Amino acid sequence: MDIAKFQQELQATLKPYKDELPSFRSLPKEGLSRAEVVDIVAKLAQREAPRWQSGKVSGAVYHGDPAHIEFQNTIYNLQSQANPLHMDLWPSITKFEAEIIAMTAHMLGADYTEDEIVGSVSSGGTESILLAMKAYRDWARATKNITEPEIIAPSTAHVAFEKAAQYFGMKLIRVPIGEDFRADVRAMEEAITPNTVVMVGSAPPFPHGIVDPIEELSEIARQRGIGFHTDACLGGFVLPWAERLGYPVPKFDFRLPGVTSMSCDTHKYGYAAKGTSVVLYRGRELRHHQYFVSTDWCGGIYISPTLTGSRPGGLSAAAWAAMVSMGESGYLEAARRILKSAETIKKGIACIPELQIIGDPLFVIAFTSKQLDIYAVLDVMSQMGWNLNGLQNPPAIHIAVTIRHTQEGVPERFLEDLRRAVEIVKSRPEMQGSMTPVYGMTSNVFLRGAVDQFLRNLLDTIFEA
Ligand SMILES: Cc1ncc(COP(=O)(O)O)c(C=O)c1O
Repeated sequence: MDIAKFQQELQATLKPYKDELPSFRSLPKEGLSRAEVVDIVAKLAQREAPRWQSGKVSGAVYHGDPAHIEFQNTIYNLQSQANPLHMDLWPSITKFEAEIIAMTAHMLGADYTEDEIVGSVSSGGTESILLAMKAYRDWARATKNITEPEIIAPSTAHVAFEKAAQYFGMKLIRVPIGEDFRADVRAMEEAITPNTVVMVGSAPPFPHGIVDPIEELSEIARQRGIGFHTDACLGGFVLPWAERLGYPVPKFDFRLPGVTSMSCDTHKYGYAAKGTSVVLYRGRELRHHQYFVSTDWCGGIYISPTLTGSRPGGLSAAAWAAMVSMGESGYLEAARRILKSAETIKKGIACIPELQIIGDPLFVIAFTSKQLDIYAVLDVMSQMGWNLNGLQNPPAIHIAVTIRHTQEGVPERFLEDLRRAVEIVKSRPEMQGSMTPVYGMTSNVFLRGAVDQFLRNLLDTIFEA
């Protein structure tokens, strides 16, 4: 495929409204009427909704039932102006955030330890991870005089750890996973150096959904006097309930004495509107290293717990509302339905001889193929309207099962289409492509060597009106 044609196709995918709607490259001379504006946004939202509502999308929208969305919108509407930076104006948001933290900590084993589990509400999984890594960097500098801090993470740990390392001048040591697609305990231990400040495990990692051996890893970290972060962004609101339902869930939370911090996303399986997550710490000391405090600025003394200054209080209100309205029974029932659909999907994939499921996952199911080009299967599934996640190293596909997939007939339709896609690829060996998937996109890119620059240009394109 030639690059110009590929870029043209990408433009068409990413900017489908370009020739259809006016683009505003400068402010309109006279503002549009509110009704007109609502009309534009509503029309676009209506066009986009069927795709994710139907259950053809992996992850992305984790609840999505209309009544739940309306409820979330109502709460946001009530507090859309709130900014917890102004603590005295909106003490309600302070209350909501304190309770989000307490409820999440309770769900993740806080009652099983003598230590106090504290935390912060952030804007998403990435910010929770960034904050925790910054806290470890500053803690290690203050208490151990470590000036070249290192993070040890399995190759499957979310790329946000790489982002944290880049942003905060830390070194990320990626350790290859074992044959069972979990972190390799021995190799992780061997990677520890005098500069190690934190070790990471995921419950579960994004790519293959198989929980790392957190018990062993966190114990090593504890014995070596380094931090241990469990990234439960994806699984924090599923695994506790899966365990109660009798599924085999390895220990991953604060019940383990070596776990010193966790990230857990309210905006995924917590079923809150997009834009919130929780970062938790064992003890206040680490959290203090997360905070930003400035006492001399002429704008006044400034304290800010997270990366941003002003923050959307309405989203914290919505996250709190999602949690208290779901309650234990709601999360348990959601997990029951999700895990049942995931079972159906797993069993169905296992019956397709050309595909192999990676490990024994619970609700994020990755599969590959020894016989076929799995990216060609991904392409055909995309043509059938599915929006799955393509993985690399090794090439695979995953589906993160959500409430969307618990709708009547969705797992069956997925399996039917997957079987058809496999047959199509089998019958057309020339389809074997060499495209590489991009996180969050159904289009693939192929320029392996020049991919970094290409992707930077792609982001530039996205910001052009
Ligand atoms: C395990 C894990 N950690 C972190 C993240 C990052 O979360 P976010 O996209 O909310 O920043 C994700 C996202 O899927 C994830 O699966």
